[in-house]
Amino acid sequence: MIELQGLTKRYGDKTAVDNLTFTVRPGVVTGFLGPNGAGKSTTMRMMLGLDNPTAGNVRIDGKHYAQLSEPLKYIGALLDAKAIHGGRTAYNHLLCLAQSNRIPRHRVDEVLDTVGLTAVAKKRSKGFSLGMGQRLGIAGALLGDPEILMFDEPVNGLDPEGIHWIRNLMKGLAAQGRTVFVSSHLMSEMALTAEHLIVIGRGRLMADTSMAEFIEKNSRSYVRIRTPQPERLKDVLTAAGFTPVTTSDGTFEIQDGDAAQLGELAAQHQLVLHELSPQRASLEEAFMQLTAESVEYHAGGVAPPPGIDGGAAGMPQAAGQQAPQQQWGAQWRDSGTGKGK
Ligand SMILES: Nc1ncnc2c1ncn2[C@@H]1O[C@H](COP(=O)(O)OP(=O)(O)OP(=O)(O)O)[C@@H](O)[C@H]1O
Ligand SMILES: [Mg+2]
Repeated sequence: MIELQGLTKRYGDKTAVDNLTFTVRPGVVTGFLGPNGAGKSTTMRMMLGLDNPTAGNVRIDGKHYAQLSEPLKYIGALLDAKAIHGGRTAYNHLLCLAQSNRIPRHRVDEVLDTVGLTAVAKKRSKGFSLGMGQRLGIAGALLGDPEILMFDEPVNGLDPEGIHWIRNLMKGLAAQGRTVFVSSHLMSEMALTAEHLIVIGRGRLMADTSMAEFIEKNSRSYVRIRTPQPERLKDVLTAAGFTPVTTSDGTFEIQDGDAAQLGELAAQHQLVLHELSPQRASLEEAFMQLTAESVEYHAGGVAPPPGIDGGAAGMPQAAGQQAPQQQWGAQWRDSGTGKGK
């Protein structure tokens, strides 16, 4: 278990992490999400004692990281896959880590095998591709067979097979009762991997909730209807009190509608339907909805191609929502304090 209590980090007048209090529990994969510069890596560095908090504290199974003897046996982490001595072979890199924590040598072979690097174990890591480096970093995290695992953007640079592999690895580790904390920018991947979510924006906690609840609370669900008689359907729906939204591909999207009720309504009026499908919003949509105000670094300048909006793909324009096109123009909302990416 990882417990954060009022964790805060300031760099000069920039507050990178702002009074974070949450607990990462064992038995599930907990996703750590936030826009670029939100403070995810800074939080993870403080968890490992690599940065000192300005205020607050982190406890790993009730102890500060510095109080753990042989810490690799408690918590394994991949923060920066490039943070290895390029002149060392993969085997020797892991052996050094193992010896510093009194971990038996056979674990080096085991984790090399787990991450699929046995064939290049005797090669210097400076020749490794991004994905191979990630795998070596993951091997280092697994070395001490720890109960807690933490990965910062672990799927960066991995090929589809690698992404599939790490998803199953993380789920498997959580199923063994371990605490697994992972940050990622790949929402579709996170949606498949994590059960619980911690979302931060500009250093502050924005959500600490189950994946299902997060999506439900932060996004809309709707029913999609496609018909060859759009004018008639629109009249029927409007007369029944619905507010059908027309999308660019000619379908209707009805919020707060129930598919069965809408289907019956169409049948009563002998309307032909080619599609009637309840739609669940994606994690990406929910994430963008929640963090829209806390995104610091916006892409700007180039207008999106017709039919592609700046938010979640295919979202119709509902009344009261900011036009996605407006978001494209915005950049550097928070003037000049952070890094550009
Ligand atoms: N050593 C440092 N000195 C000064 N500012 C820093 C330092 N490390 C991080 N920051 C600032 O703290 C903020 C949070 O950065 P951090 O790297 O933790 O974000 P992140 O959520 O990991 O972003 P990303 O998704 O881009 O990896 C940023 O504004 C960054 O510029
Ligand atoms: Mg980061």
